[in-house]
Amino acid sequence: MSATISSVQMEAPVVDFLKAPKKLLIDGTWVEAASGKTFGTYNPATGEALATVAEGDAEDIDRAVKAARRAFDSGPWSRMTPSNRGQLIWRLADLLEQHLDEFAQIETLDNGKPFSVARVADVPLAVDLFRYMAGWATKVTGETIPLSTGGHFGYTLREPVGVVGQIIPWNFPLLMAAWKLGPALATGCTVVLKPAEQTPLSALRLGELIMEAGFPGGVVNIVPGFGETAGAALAAHPNVDKIAFTGSTEVGKLIVQAASGNLKKVSLELGGKSPNIVFRDADIDAAIAGSARAIFFNHGQCCTAGSRLLIEQSIFDQVVEGVAAEAKKIKVGPGLSPDTDMGPLVSEEQLSRVCGYLESGFAEGARAAAGGKKVNGPGYFVQPTVLTDTNPNMKVCREEIFGPVLVAIPFRDPEEVLSTANNSIYGLAAGIWTRDVGKAHLLASRLRAGTVWINCYNVFDAALPFGGYKQSGWGREMGREVLDLYTQVKSVCVAIN
Ligand code: NAI
Ligand code: MG
Repeated sequence: MSATISSVQMEAPVVDFLKAPKKLLIDGTWVEAASGKTFGTYNPATGEALATVAEGDAEDIDRAVKAARRAFDSGPWSRMTPSNRGQLIWRLADLLEQHLDEFAQIETLDNGKPFSVARVADVPLAVDLFRYMAGWATKVTGETIPLSTGGHFGYTLREPVGVVGQIIPWNFPLLMAAWKLGPALATGCTVVLKPAEQTPLSALRLGELIMEAGFPGGVVNIVPGFGETAGAALAAHPNVDKIAFTGSTEVGKLIVQAASGNLKKVSLELGGKSPNIVFRDADIDAAIAGSARAIFFNHGQCCTAGSRLLIEQSIFDQVVEGVAAEAKKIKVGPGLSPDTDMGPLVSEEQLSRVCGYLESGFAEGARAAAGGKKVNGPGYFVQPTVLTDTNPNMKVCREEIFGPVLVAIPFRDPEEVLSTANNSIYGLAAGIWTRDVGKAHLLASRLRAGTVWINCYNVFDAALPFGGYKQSGWGREMGREVLDLYTQVKSVCVAIN
């Protein structure tokens, strides 16, 4: 890190946006929190305050749910045609695209990720997701059902589930908002969205574009605040029909309990400890580069991070050396500096969590082939790290670290690697690197994971369903599958004799 690097020129609208008051979006209007309370959001590259944000809690959640309820039950949204809903979502995508650099800068300031990454990944993927979902608005259909009870005609209606509470994390703040809002709006639901307290800014700016696009008031309400207050109130609210959550497995379990009061529907996208498997018959150079990206993308703050690198014994040293060399090449620095590859972790809390895992790994006998330390100075930086000499019982091998920390583990044959790979409470994703097509597909079918990447990693597409096996979650995001989670089926039976 150097203090002299030049910085990306800040967009004028970003400067204005940071200065303006940050309120809650309720019923189409920007309002203060009922309590009058605010909280600060910080730049993780410096630790400095970026903006002050109205802090929503239970009372604001209740106001927002009432607005969403009205918009769903009796507002213009409930009478809007699917085509018009689709057009609004498409318009939102266009607006977001027009403000691409602005959103990428907001994301970099609030989350820490490199501007160069946010503008080619986070923002375009969000635009794409909205466009994909805009198309679905006119294609959510029921079925006609042949009945065996004579003289009756049966059909199904696929209807929106109603008012949806959505709680999202800080690792991809804008993209997670898009993944959640897109299907809800396409199916005709209304929403109360609670962004993460670490990164509320891009969701608030998106709220401005949602109003500019012309969505009726109350369709999307945005209430920043803390998990234990605003989040918990949303998960427990009796007039919310569904809660969609992305975050830790620990909080996912709390959401399930809170939802049980009114048995609201629940979908969860939770943690992972994803195995990434390299066979000796792989394209080794591609596997090394891909495995480094699998763990270090977004500083390891990905639920899908390929955090357990399982390497066939005979190429173990070669692959570890290769990935360690990639790790050492990564330029760690502020996200606004144009030559930065990896920015800071999102918060001081995450930095100490990740450093705690490093200490525990070393105390249990692990060795660092690269990295292993936090970076001194302001900001929450940690070195890209590759650990060897681990065993499956170590915390660093079992628990989600959510930082740029890889454990490398050797294996002898496909049966052994399958059992190691599946030996986790999680089942979100997995990677396979091999030139043997048969082996790749066989393994893909036997890995207990919601996504399997073959000779690639962390490839996301709005059309491809995404979600977890085991304790990585319930339900799927994106693709056609997500529409099922935002709709319910009504059977209609008509006497026709
Ligand atoms: P978290 O699960 O506490 O936070 C995620 C969201 O849930 C935030 O919006 C937060 O305000 C909200 N929340 C927290 N407690 C809540 C409650 N009781 N009721 C309702 N909402 C609540 O995650 P946190 O503390 O930021 O990170 C801790 C660990 O969680 C990370 O180290 C990582 O392992 C994991 N994580 C996983 C993510 C994923 O994408 N699967 C994303 C973020 C964190
Ligand atoms: Mg938490």
